[in-house]
Amino acid sequence: MIIRLNRYLSICGVSSRRKADRLIEDGRVRVNGVIVREPGYRVDTDKDRVSIGRRVLKPQKKRYVILNKPRLYLTSLGDERDGKRSIRELIRDIPERVYPAGRLDYDAEGLLMLTNDGEVANRILHPRYKLPKVYLTLVKGALSSDVLEKGAFGIKLEDGLARPDWIKILGKKNDNTVLEIAFHEGRKHLVKRFFKSMGYPVLRLKRVAIGPIRLGNLPRGKWRDLTPEELEALKRSLGFK
Ligand code: URA
Repeated sequence: MIIRLNRYLSICGVSSRRKADRLIEDGRVRVNGVIVREPGYRVDTDKDRVSIGRRVLKPQKKRYVILNKPRLYLTSLGDERDGKRSIRELIRDIPERVYPAGRLDYDAEGLLMLTNDGEVANRILHPRYKLPKVYLTLVKGALSSDVLEKGAFGIKLEDGLARPDWIKILGKKNDNTVLEIAFHEGRKHLVKRFFKSMGYPVLRLKRVAIGPIRLGNLPRGKWRDLTPEELEALKRSLGFK
């Protein structure tokens, strides 16, 4: 089969197609021992030998996994940093190289999707596909429905308007408020910045759904494969035929 080099990297589980472009342009990728810097270079999957450093790339089985990330774990696949643990140690038993499609802060918990399917990962993250990421959050203080209404129309942050897909108060906890909020974009610390700018700092944050995929009762620190039904529903939400 003849395919583009960047796509070949992505089916080998190296990274998303966009990151693959960067690796290629940076001269990190060799085809038959020769550095190739064109993402659109045509590779013959039966004959060509594609490598990064000493690693020879081979197409991988597609894997779609969800993990219940505990608080105080980094969403990174590197080793522990500054004494901080990473999710890497929780997914050691997955033989394929899967990557998180979206991040959760060190002190946030809940649903992380991991896959080696670069196209699915791109679409989960891209605002164009409008896939809601749903969070349960505890904010400091008693947030009233008037304030909530203002927030629902969107809050101006330093990098642009943050407008939730929906937001609702679920209850009170001592002097604080429990809410559900959904965004279909993944700007850094978006939920925290959204509530902070309204004057209600986030105390706890948990992602409970990504589109049709729900965290459910997956134990903390554990992962599982998506069911065929979940995968089909996810792909349908992302506009795959
Ligand atoms: N918004 C945040 O502020 N943090 C996260 O981890 C995810 C969304």
